[in-house]
Amino acid sequence: MSSRLSGKVCIITGTGGSIGREAALTFAREGASVVGCDANVDAAEETSEMVRCEGGTMASLHPCHLGDPGHCRALIDFAMRTFSRIDVLFNNASTTHFNWLEDISDEEWTRNRRGELDLVFYLTRAAWPHLKASRGVIVNTASLAALMSFRNLGSLAHTTATAGIIAMTRQLAMEGRDHGIRANSISPGMIETDETRNHLQDPGSADSIVGKTLLGRLGRPEEVANVALFLASGESSYVTGVDIVVDGGMRVW
Ligand SMILES: NC(=O)c1ccc[n+]([C@@H]2O[C@H](COP(=O)([O-])OP(=O)(O)OC[C@H]3O[C@@H](n4cnc5c(N)ncnc54)[C@H](O)[C@@H]3O)[C@@H](O)[C@H]2O)c1
Repeated sequence: MSSRLSGKVCIITGTGGSIGREAALTFAREGASVVGCDANVDAAEETSEMVRCEGGTMASLHPCHLGDPGHCRALIDFAMRTFSRIDVLFNNASTTHFNWLEDISDEEWTRNRRGELDLVFYLTRAAWPHLKASRGVIVNTASLAALMSFRNLGSLAHTTATAGIIAMTRQLAMEGRDHGIRANSISPGMIETDETRNHLQDPGSADSIVGKTLLGRLGRPEEVANVALFLASGESSYVTGVDIVVDGGMRVW
């Protein structure tokens, strides 16, 4: 184990998922005490086991439904009860609904906003007093879809919500500056995860996506987790209010 997050208590949401799991393992290897959570009990438990098997420190609250402000407060209380402080909040979890303007219902639009935007607001608001106390760090998760459109993807609600995450992050950085809080976001491109594996079943769409990356391949969850680690650690001490694109060069080509 090395020590880039030694002594830090880091909340990571969605630790049952691909990127959240890698982030939990990565942060724990760097000495963090990790607080995980997920709506999916079995997956969250599995991640905790993996971290503990490696000798890392992790507590996890599951099931936890972050679209409910009460659950967000419960997660923060759980972190404080367990580790007495919060240094890093990595808002990684989200649930996305893809559809086109002509097909999306009001209910689906609202569900997407709740699943991508509201949960970040609720949890960040609940964590804020503790982040002020620790002069902490926020790492949010947006998406390449916030910055560009994909011809085959009905992502109206997704692009709108994730652009909101980038804007929210900038505002949080401004509001946090007097308290020593830094806030940044990550915009992943196409990362090979449980969620994207389905899209990639179709060889046509897999080729068109891979062909649009400069690096000629999809990203790996740990390549997002490593950027989150940089933003969570003191190595990024002069970085705030920005969005870092992790897309293998998809956006520039
Ligand atoms: N995988 C990609 O290519 C990609 C691209 C751009 C952005 N992202 C973003 O990165 C993040 C992680 O992506 P992933 O691919 O690891 O996803 P994933 O589906 O593998 O994991 C997400 C986890 O979050 C949990 N979760 C979702 N909503 C929740 C809620 N309201 N309360 C509690 N838990 C909840 C899920 O149960 C799941 O375990 C997401 O925000 C996603 O939108 C991913």
